[in-house]
Amino acid sequence: MLVLIDDANLEAIKRIYEFYPCDGVTTNPSILKKQGENPMEVLKAIREFLPDGAQLHAQVVSLTAEKMIDEAHHMLEVLGKDTYIKIPVTSEGIKAMKLLSKENANITATAIYTSMQAFIAAKAGARYTAPYVNRLDNMGADGVQVAKDIHDMFKMHGLNADVLAASFKNSQQVLNLCKYGIGSITAAPDVIEGLIKHDATANAVEVFTKDFYSLVGEGNTMENL
Ligand code: G3P
Repeated sequence: MLVLIDDANLEAIKRIYEFYPCDGVTTNPSILKKQGENPMEVLKAIREFLPDGAQLHAQVVSLTAEKMIDEAHHMLEVLGKDTYIKIPVTSEGIKAMKLLSKENANITATAIYTSMQAFIAAKAGARYTAPYVNRLDNMGADGVQVAKDIHDMFKMHGLNADVLAASFKNSQQVLNLCKYGIGSITAAPDVIEGLIKHDATANAVEVFTKDFYSLVGEGNTMENL
């Protein structure tokens, strides 16, 4: 399962990249707004930092297919390879996906709230589809189940598309999708950090360290023995 960072703050992205295995970064216009800077400059700085082969997902904001395609061409030119153009699953968006996929552009269908939206986007040529898991949960639906249904439908119909599940608020949502074999998730830095946090682990490490120091003296490690 690919793990992407859903953020545009370069310091936060660098911190997560330093400690955790990651496959790229996803953004949307609201995430970029939080930076309060020229969004294209923010995206360029993220691209410069990312290692070769890492994915960068960035969204168009135009409302017509023709304008979305113009935007996508510009974004691909500026942000280079391994850039995924995020397009919302409106009717204009689906049209843009159909046309852009003919150029072999990487497309991520976004703002997905139903499994049918994902299916149609995949048929239109989207490589990834992003159901909003936690937003669905907040609406009284089952976000994890929607992501699982999309995954199953892609397999059943032999579509060359994956789920890129988005909008997480806790580890349990991520775990449920990981256990199901979902292709990729994107989560905010605090959710990614939460994936491994456990008080029992911290306590175990504390006891191991104390025991070792009582044996060989405070501050010594295997390195000095
Ligand atoms: O990219 C979509 C995703 O970021 C939405 O997440 O946390 O705003 O529901 P959230």
